[in-house]
Amino acid sequence: MPDIIHLLPDNIANQIAAGEVIQRPASAVKELLENAVDAGATEIRLIVQEAGKSLIQVVDNGKGMSETDARMAFERHATSKISNIDDLFHIRTMGFRGEALASIAAVAQVELKTKREEDETGTCLEIENSRVTRQEPVACPRGTNIAMKNLFFNVPARRNFLKSNAAEMRHIVDEFTRVSMAFPSVFFSLNNNSQQLMHLEKGSLKQRVVQILGNTHNAKLVSVQENTDYLNIYGFVGKPETARKTRGDQYFFVNQRFIRSAYLNHAIMNAFRDMIPQDSFPLYVLFIDLDPTQLDINVHPTKQEIKFEDEKIVYAFVQAAVKHALAQFSVTPTLDFDLDPSIQHLDAVSKPVSEEKKASVASSSLYQTFTQKNQAHFIEPSQKSELKSWKDLSSGTQGPSGRSDTQDPSERSGIPGLAEASAIHKVKSPEAAPLIPGLPNPYLGNRIQPIEGAPLQQLLNTYIVTPTNRGFILVHQQSAHERVLYDRYSTAATGKGIPSQKNLFPVTLQLSTPDAILLEELAPDLQLLGYLIEPFGKDSLIVQGTPADTGQGNEKAILENLLEQFKHFTSDMKFSRREKLVRSMAKQQAVRAGQPLDDKEMRMLVEELFTTRQPNVTPGGDPTYIEFRKEYVDKLFGR
Ligand SMILES: Nc1ncnc2c1ncn2[C@@H]1O[C@H](COP(=O)(O)OP(=O)(O)OP(=O)(O)O)[C@@H](O)[C@H]1O
Ligand SMILES: [Mg+2]
Repeated sequence: MPDIIHLLPDNIANQIAAGEVIQRPASAVKELLENAVDAGATEIRLIVQEAGKSLIQVVDNGKGMSETDARMAFERHATSKISNIDDLFHIRTMGFRGEALASIAAVAQVELKTKREEDETGTCLEIENSRVTRQEPVACPRGTNIAMKNLFFNVPARRNFLKSNAAEMRHIVDEFTRVSMAFPSVFFSLNNNSQQLMHLEKGSLKQRVVQILGNTHNAKLVSVQENTDYLNIYGFVGKPETARKTRGDQYFFVNQRFIRSAYLNHAIMNAFRDMIPQDSFPLYVLFIDLDPTQLDINVHPTKQEIKFEDEKIVYAFVQAAVKHALAQFSVTPTLDFDLDPSIQHLDAVSKPVSEEKKASVASSSLYQTFTQKNQAHFIEPSQKSELKSWKDLSSGTQGPSGRSDTQDPSERSGIPGLAEASAIHKVKSPEAAPLIPGLPNPYLGNRIQPIEGAPLQQLLNTYIVTPTNRGFILVHQQSAHERVLYDRYSTAATGKGIPSQKNLFPVTLQLSTPDAILLEELAPDLQLLGYLIEPFGKDSLIVQGTPADTGQGNEKAILENLLEQFKHFTSDMKFSRREKLVRSMAKQQAVRAGQPLDDKEMRMLVEELFTTRQPNVTPGGDPTYIEFRKEYVDKLFGR
């Protein structure tokens, strides 16, 4: 039998490798922008058409490439950024894997024009299916102009997998924002379909942050700056009042590379603890610079995950720096430790890190404070038992998921029977628990049902007590209303929709570019929910109609909040866009805890709640009421 193993042709190997690096237009945008930054460009222009599906072009004034390098650049593992294994641990550039252009050339048609300062003429190159189809001299300015057309033209499965233009555009804007935020001394612009979406003049970090996040943030940023020999932290956090209900503007950069880190995010959340409401998220744009030997960037092909040599120390610094900044700006009244001297004197800071040094850091009093108080270093997604012990220790504080961890009041009270009485609590993923078709909803009719015409009492402007066929229930008005609205909106969104009422005075919304793109993307689904929204020039939309059952007048606030809510769900892949919207709308429109309700309103709410598909939980899985069955309550009284 002949041998059967052979090497794959380059174009196939590249296409396979491209799967990891280039997942969507935005990934190509990230790679091209990073290449331009690495080339030392001071002006970088990004031009896209059809949200990058037909064209992504990056024009820079960086150092350009020679004729040979221009060809070499598209070979796999071809890079000018590292040359030996040692370099891998001293990376200061964005790229180093030598994969991006090879991957791009495997999945798009590429045209490159590039010229170095010292060359008379530049070179122009065309590539298709990883093969150079043309190369000739060309007159062009110094720098590189790379255009990739028809992304995934040769991988139809991938092309079909792409989302709507608005959705892909949003990803592009995200990547553009991340790179441009990290390099404020570079001019950046973004054009989509010949329309300029962003134009970022060179300036300070603060100017860049304000340019991107919007002018309203100018007075609301607190500067963070701590320099130590081990690492520097700088950037901004939002004053506590800018905290939002959703994870919106949170940026972490390590050596100017945008990274995702739930662990460091938790450090910041901890620094803000007690200053912002539970379940809300502070704004931050933070940069950590440290010796590249203390990092491993090569954890993931997209380089958005990194490993710190010692992440506990980084955690401690981040938390301390943010606390310090908030204290300095008198945002927080007290400081529970003095940052500068103690941080500076940590052995790990003043000397290169060694094992003994780490041990001595661990015994320093400052370090002890961090570790004992917050226990945050235990949090590791894979270590569930540790997470649990952390949760136990920090009961009443917020966990990394942003949720309070002592959910079940019965567990806290330790009263036997009550746990059973409120066992209904534990339904955590109600939508996943199927209701058997054809059989009555177990929570309806034959089970628990409020007694018609019975008295209702509102307590603390938040809870409604009412008797039922088996005892009584304590209804949480906001959660209950969320369930009611969720059912109403999902029916509307799949049926003929909620009627809309024309606005006499249409409202114009001026939004940030990413928000405007998002809202435009949501417009068709919003129409089903009663909102008529049309584009109205750059970053503006006009609200022509509102749901007939919602009062007019505060469309702006409603829609802005709705976008915030929606963004909160975007990481949740399991929901369709419409489902996310329906959930956001329900959350957004639900009557708030603390709102006094009259008898009629309470009655309608409770009645409607018990006609929904799953009256006992919100769409997100929180309880809408707690049931106190008579026999259990009797037992508690020893009867
Ligand atoms: N805009 C540019 N200006 C000048 N040189 C460039 C530019 N883009 C790419 N190059 C050159 O082409 C090489 C290959 O680029 P490519 O993006 O494929 O790899 P990389 O940036 O080295 O690593 P990574 O795959 O991690 O991005 C780079 O190392 C660089 O020398
Ligand atoms: Mg690169």
